[in-house]
Amino acid sequence: MKFFVDTAEVAEIRALSEAGLVDGVTTNPSLIAKSGRKMAEVIAEICEITPGPVSAEVTATDFDTMLAEGRFLRGIAKNVAVKVPLTEAGLSVCRSLADEGTKVNVTLCFSAAQALLAAKAGAAYISPFVGRLDDIAYDGMLLIADILKIYRNYSYFKTEVLVASIRHPVHLVEAAKLGAEVATLPPNVIRQLFKHPLTDRGLDSFLADWRKTGQSIL
Ligand code: E4P
Repeated sequence: MKFFVDTAEVAEIRALSEAGLVDGVTTNPSLIAKSGRKMAEVIAEICEITPGPVSAEVTATDFDTMLAEGRFLRGIAKNVAVKVPLTEAGLSVCRSLADEGTKVNVTLCFSAAQALLAAKAGAAYISPFVGRLDDIAYDGMLLIADILKIYRNYSYFKTEVLVASIRHPVHLVEAAKLGAEVATLPPNVIRQLFKHPLTDRGLDSFLADWRKTGQSIL
């Protein structure tokens, strides 16, 4: 399973990359706004740190402007994946960019029917938002299961399921159990993955016993 980091904070990406945990990065307009930086500049910097795909999202809503934005964004670095919203125009842009050899991440997916359309439009990634579905009292993981089942029925679909809007480690574990190809994780969720109280407690007691021996390994 590939781990993407869902952030536009370069320092976070650098730190997690050093730990060998980053296969790619996803950003969105809200994350760029939160970074307080110029989009083209921050995307270029992230692309230098991360060899994997870096999703950069268009912000227009009409076909012509979205296509122009997508072409501009992919010109920033060769590992940019253009992110488009799951709208009619967004999927037409997806088809055009995919035909030009650009990886497209179709975002804001909330139904299996939408995911089917994205695959037909040649998306490299479909981003279903599990956390936002949970927020409205629907189990987001049911959507992941449905999409994977549909995609597996048609082996000619090459679209990878990129589980997005992940809020906690259970989302990741459930996505992995279902066989989703990619999860995009906020840095705080990646840090939570390391944690278990029994690990901390076990380590404390091992080290306390070790100190009593008076030994040192080196
Ligand atoms: C995905 O690409 C999105 O950037 C992200 O996962 C959205 O997450 P949120 O619902 O926590 O904003």
